Amino acid sequence: MTELYGYDDGDVDTNRSDNGTLNDLIARRYSRRETLRSGASAAAVAVFGGAFVAACDEPVKDIFPTVKVTAIGTARAGNIITLTGVASDDHSIASQAFTQESGPTVTLSGASTGVATFMAPAVSAVTNLVFRYSATDDKGQTSSDTITVAIQPAELGFAAIAHSLTDVLMVAPGYTATVLYRLGDPLTAGTAAFKNDGTDTDYAHRAGDHHDGMSFFGLAATGSTPDRASNTRGLLVMNHENVTRNYLHAAGPTSVGGLRPESEVIKEIEVHGVSVVEIKRASDTGAWSYVQDGALNRRVTPLTPTEFSGPVKNNASLKTAYSADGTKGRGTVNNCANGYMAWNTYLTCEENWAGYFRRDAGDDANRAALYGARAVTALNRYGLNGTRAGNYDWTRVTPADPASTNYAKFNVTIDTTKASDGTGDFRFEANQYGWVVEIDPFDASKAPRKRTALGRMNHEGVGAGRMVAGVKPAFYMGDDATNEYIYKFVSATAWSAADATATDRLAIGDKYLDAGTLYVAKFNADGTGAWLPLVFGTGPLTAANATYPFADQADVLMHARLAGDALGATKMDRPEWTAVNPATGEMYCTLTNNSTRTPANTDAANPRAYTDPKTGGGQTNGNANGHIIRLREDGDTSEALTFKWDVYVFGAGADLDATNINLSGLDATNDFSSCDGLWFGRSSNASGGAVPVLWIETDDGAFTDVTNCMLLAAIPGSVGDGGTKNITNTIGAATGTQTARVGKAPGTALRRFLVGPKECEITGIDTTPDGRSLFVNIQHPGENGTAATPTSNWPAATTGARPRSATVVITRNDGGVVGL
Ligand code: FEO
Ligand code: CA
Ligand code: CA
Repeated sequence: MTELYGYDDGDVDTNRSDNGTLNDLIARRYSRRETLRSGASAAAVAVFGGAFVAACDEPVKDIFPTVKVTAIGTARAGNIITLTGVASDDHSIASQAFTQESGPTVTLSGASTGVATFMAPAVSAVTNLVFRYSATDDKGQTSSDTITVAIQPAELGFAAIAHSLTDVLMVAPGYTATVLYRLGDPLTAGTAAFKNDGTDTDYAHRAGDHHDGMSFFGLAATGSTPDRASNTRGLLVMNHENVTRNYLHAAGPTSVGGLRPESEVIKEIEVHGVSVVEIKRASDTGAWSYVQDGALNRRVTPLTPTEFSGPVKNNASLKTAYSADGTKGRGTVNNCANGYMAWNTYLTCEENWAGYFRRDAGDDANRAALYGARAVTALNRYGLNGTRAGNYDWTRVTPADPASTNYAKFNVTIDTTKASDGTGDFRFEANQYGWVVEIDPFDASKAPRKRTALGRMNHEGVGAGRMVAGVKPAFYMGDDATNEYIYKFVSATAWSAADATATDRLAIGDKYLDAGTLYVAKFNADGTGAWLPLVFGTGPLTAANATYPFADQADVLMHARLAGDALGATKMDRPEWTAVNPATGEMYCTLTNNSTRTPANTDAANPRAYTDPKTGGGQTNGNANGHIIRLREDGDTSEALTFKWDVYVFGAGADLDATNINLSGLDATNDFSSCDGLWFGRSSNASGGAVPVLWIETDDGAFTDVTNCMLLAAIPGSVGDGGTKNITNTIGAATGTQTARVGKAPGTALRRFLVGPKECEITGIDTTPDGRSLFVNIQHPGENGTAATPTSNWPAATTGARPRSATVVITRNDGGVVGL
């Protein structure tokens, strides 16, 4: 802790108390008392109050308390400041108190003691907070003193950590990371403890695998309703994107005569999906733990009943043997990132869903014969081209239960003996995936709703724009596949703040997410851009379109990628997470990498194509390390149809060519590759206040010769704070030039905060509302190992232990806001 006197570099430590004159004041009071003892005037008595007057009739022996107040701590947003008042007197001190006199109002803990603390608030410029310390003796004599603490705007407050290739979770000094919720952890009182030897079952009541996108929802004392202010009890809601099968089964996955044992397949299915799990913080130790028997604990899996909502609901393209009217489905799969809605719901996003579906030989011909060539075009555009077994062979199980379609639904091959409307088989089942799905964490009785107005793609996540009363809110989304697009959905309904506390939360979701306009982004070379509406009947989005004749608006949403193609949207380097700066409204999007980018096909928004060599041989070509693009809506409104953009930062190893590749000047403290997770601090604390912190997570394969995946923190500037660079791209003999729009070099305002264990991805992130507990997911540690020879043991430290995806919680040892 720093005692606050005067200014020093970075931390403003100020004491503007009148200590220097206090003795003078006391001296004056003594002399006045002498005056009173000798018969003071009534006017002079009034200055000191009635208590002193009463004392005049007694033997005079009391003096005013002598007080002194000091402050220690770092006088910068997000740090805890301790005020200490010291009082002495010839009598005992009966009471003492701190009060705030000016500046942004803070909560003073211990205000009626001699030691009070407060959290330095978010400020946009150096801001004075004035506090008064008063002490009263047992004769009622009060003295007081003030202190001024000058609070600086938020800055990163931790020392960057080094690269790491160890099997240890590394975190910045001064922080503690604790494992909170691991693969297999039981979610009911009656679920057996996890053995982690491949024999565990019943994953519908355990934590799933591959923890991914995640949000914290404060839970009220009722145990069943939201409390947005709770920092000690809540629901963590998280995605379980995929599975590492080598560790899930005793000796890895098996097959019997080409068929998969049903006992293995059901486990593989149930580890996918979403968890809702209660967590709590102990009031004494401050330790977080998950609540095994939490009343709202639940799993959503690829078999959980779901409902369709929005323009595609009821559409012929959603009909299956399970839902003859195209209104219902079962489950959600490959849930990647997420969205946190202002009305206390969670959005889970279906990303690489196409891989799970089987198509047998001949299906193209049968499909074209029944529904025209466009039906095959549609499947191809979503990666369902050709003959395929489907991930993990879930449709071939033994013993097969003829009454169950839990596995058969993953086979979309047309059965030509069944009805052509699709109600006799699962030929249209793949149309039921690729959506954003809304879950009410507080009400397990309501089925998750697939929000079709947000379009169908490889949904990575949903970054909500600022919610402004009277303005239609925007929701930004990446379609994570090579050369896909960035989208925004603008609700048809202007935001009403009262909806934030509604009790029928999915009805509020209906209100804002079922009607509106989906747009796709076009980035122009001059730094401007436009949102192109996906509206049937406009421009090329008609039945006359030669590549894909659109039937209606539901068809446009169902095949948003084809609509984006037709509109001329900009093909991006794999759009991952989106995040909106709560202070400026600027939208950031990670573009993780693109192996198909060449010197011949770059554009201003995706300007790099190069070679990143690997230690020990090998290389990654294209945009090997990714970048983060950002845009500012014209007029600073979510309803805008045009914007300005630049690239906040380009990923790169620090050793790569500074002229053409390492365009943001990264060094060993902040170099990174394949940015993926992206999130701004919550506006309820200093990390998301006037100067918000941007958190960046990596899912990398190019830079893993140097370091495991990581979490970085940044304080970014704003669109246009840098300039342009003319670069030369080179891959082998191919070269080309491009102009890159590069934001101001981040320098020390971008730092590595955490490095994960071996072969993991860092993903999923949120904090408590106060920003003092940070939740992060460690996905698939040791993903390339086997049960016999695991390549990571994390989170166990025991050699031979099977690794487990897990949530960790990180707190600052001094209790401040994480990162500041
Ligand atoms: Fe599941 Fe695009 O990461
Ligand atoms: Ca991701
Ligand atoms: Ca990823």
